Amino acid sequence: MNNEEFEKLKFNFNDTEDLINNSTEFYKLMQNRRTTRDLSNKKIPKEVLYNLIKIASNAPSGANIQPWTFCLVTSDEIKSKIRDEAEKIEKLNYEKWFSEQKKFDLQFTGLDYQKEFLTEAPALIVVFKHKYRIENNESIPNYYPMESVGLAIGMLITAIHYTGLSTIPYTPSPMKFLKKILNRPSNESPVMVLPVAYPKESALVPIITKKKLDEVLVEY
Ligand SMILES: Cc1cc2nc3c(=O)[nH]c(=O)nc-3n(C[C@H](O)[C@H](O)[C@H](O)COP(=O)(O)O)c2cc1C
Repeated sequence: MNNEEFEKLKFNFNDTEDLINNSTEFYKLMQNRRTTRDLSNKKIPKEVLYNLIKIASNAPSGANIQPWTFCLVTSDEIKSKIRDEAEKIEKLNYEKWFSEQKKFDLQFTGLDYQKEFLTEAPALIVVFKHKYRIENNESIPNYYPMESVGLAIGMLITAIHYTGLSTIPYTPSPMKFLKKILNRPSNESPVMVLPVAYPKESALVPIITKKKLDEVLVEY
């Protein structure tokens, strides 16, 4: 190990009481995170959006390759293009492709093919994964790109909620149209669209429950 390539870890060593308080407080905050489809068009400062992307991009990734691009869309024209294409696809999905099981599973969301949030939100963050990278004209596969991007998105969603805003992890299928509209290179593929917005004051969310600790925890 070459010590010259290491630096002192920056870390707050909290005592036990702080650990309990911090985790309890953060749990209380995150318990209120909900996917909110009623988004308002109230403006959000660019600085906030950049901070959110910096937080997401600070996620761990396989061999620190950081196999992601965050496309920040605030242009009304591009948001409209994304919505138009998404609604075309969704309409076909609802009318033709969705299985009865999927329609049943989605019933509680009250969703249909219309995706107003794509034009209503002041910003969309479209996340792309890099399956491989190009070095010296060679394509080199990246390590765990899907897991890495999933972690970055998880941090992004957490940061959006912590900041006081709302989002929807939106996954149109197929989503190739995003690559075309945003003109991304061949090694990138779209993973998710995350509108960033204030919720409407009148926003409603489906009544759902989360699994209890004893349903998800196995202790050894
Ligand atoms: C991978 C993934 C894909 C999702 N895709 C969509 C989607 O395309 N449209 C949508 O309205 N919600 C989508 N959601 C949101 C889920 O419906 C939502 O997270 C779930 O109903 C639980 O609600 P909650 O986020 O309020 O806890 C997606 C969530 C995840 C994690």
